[in-house]
Amino acid sequence: MIFQIDFPSSPAWLVLIAIIVVTWWYIDARRPHGMPPGPFPYPITGSMFDLIGDIPPQKTFKRMSETYGDVFSIKLGSLWAVVVNNNELVHEVLLTKTNEFSGRPSTFGFDWYTDGKKDIATAQPTPIWKHHRMLAHSAIRKFASGEYLESVTEEIRPVWQTIMTEKLKGPFDPHDVIGFAIYNLIATMCFGHRYEANDPRLNKIMKTSRQCIEGFVGWTADYIPWFRHVPNPYFYRFKRCAAEFTSLIVKEVESHVESFDPDLPAKDFLDIVLKSQREVEIEDTVPVENRLTSMHIQQLVANIFHAGVDTMTTTLLWGIASLIDNPDVQEKVKKEIDRVVGDRPPRLSDRGKMPYTEATIMEIMRYKTAVPLALFHKALVDTTIGSYKIPADTIVIVNLWALHNDPKYWQSPEKFQPERFLDSTNTVKQRLPSFLPFSTGRRVCVGESFAKANVFLTFVWLIQNFIFSKPEGVDSPVAVPDKPGLVTVPKPYNVLAKTRNT
Ligand code: HEM
Repeated sequence: MIFQIDFPSSPAWLVLIAIIVVTWWYIDARRPHGMPPGPFPYPITGSMFDLIGDIPPQKTFKRMSETYGDVFSIKLGSLWAVVVNNNELVHEVLLTKTNEFSGRPSTFGFDWYTDGKKDIATAQPTPIWKHHRMLAHSAIRKFASGEYLESVTEEIRPVWQTIMTEKLKGPFDPHDVIGFAIYNLIATMCFGHRYEANDPRLNKIMKTSRQCIEGFVGWTADYIPWFRHVPNPYFYRFKRCAAEFTSLIVKEVESHVESFDPDLPAKDFLDIVLKSQREVEIEDTVPVENRLTSMHIQQLVANIFHAGVDTMTTTLLWGIASLIDNPDVQEKVKKEIDRVVGDRPPRLSDRGKMPYTEATIMEIMRYKTAVPLALFHKALVDTTIGSYKIPADTIVIVNLWALHNDPKYWQSPEKFQPERFLDSTNTVKQRLPSFLPFSTGRRVCVGESFAKANVFLTFVWLIQNFIFSKPEGVDSPVAVPDKPGLVTVPKPYNVLAKTRNT
């Protein structure tokens, strides 16, 4: 007997397919029970298209929170995320429940780049991550404490001076000058040798590192897993430049390991790390399986470049942009520098005596939050935020930008006012609520002390030596909409500079 199926005629087919698709979409779009409300997701992409465009996601999230509440859920591709937009709830996530929310989501791009999360920033909080982070933290703190950092900055300052002097003839984009200074500092700190203004090695590190950072904005395959099987020329390009950047780092790390002598005093960051690693081996303080491999050390250096350079460069670029918009603030900072520092190079010990300058730097970090959404966290267990249920594996996004612009804590948050960080006795206010430029809790920025110290030394040196102003007829760079990205980098702008003694 011949088996026969009666296929429905074509309109019936279409109706059947439509019913299946709509049912699947409805089931797929349903939030897990108890999760906070949020926008209804589209099939396959979820709400990803709402986040593409000229408006940075932190602002779109803030606008969504006005409809759905301070914590809401959103589907990114096939993954659920919750976005937290106010100080109390962010503290619950980052401090009260820091262990529950200290995971990192798996992403296709980062997982490939970090050789399966052998870095600090994207790794899950495992014992080896803990050891890696502790080692990096103590080495960075040691470096930031004064002696090392001051000597490195003083060593490379003549190169900056030369580059800046070439720029005094007319308007220029400060991005490359500041970027070069910070790359030079980080490379000198890590590898122990300084680079001249046109050193091709540094230019290559700068170029390839920047290309990698551009690739970190996220890949569709991070959120829609089957997309990783779709050929993507951008990803191939990213892989090529990532391989080039990694090979530069590997060369430096290998030559350090070869020439390392534990009996000599450490002269750079890699020496400090290798020395601590040697101590761990001799004293047997860390189980063998949790010790670092050369891949971990290579990833640590890559993390320092990628997490440190753009953030510090951006902070300084927003600093110059804010001061050319507020010449009165620039003048007050300069007066304080004259009073405390005079003509000698700035030192870290000056910080405590310069409240106005400190307050100005804090206001720059609030006004233009460099890392507006921190790095994405992940719930490691079933837990809660406020009265909502958060299932394990949910991506958790803390909107630091929303905290820094919350009118409940900041009067006229859209205005640049360093005075808001000073109390009535002209002392810098410490531990302000709703102010977390470096995040907090278990995943707080490892480079916080180093970044604060270096931004202070560079900012003071720039204002001590140059007067910055806006070229005629040019829009204020702070008023131009921010460029979306992991780090809020200003759109290219021009500035005029003249030396103080002319
Ligand atoms: C003004 C400069 C900087 C700002 C505003 C900044 C801000 C941040 C923020 C918001 C995070 C995310 C924390 C979280 O996910 O909750 C972070 C993570 C991180 N930062 Fe920074 N950062 C700066 C400079 C640096 C520097 C100079 C370094 C290295 C020397 C560095 C290394 C890292 C690392 C390794 C992480 C990952 C920490 C982890 O996942 O455990 N950062 N930073």
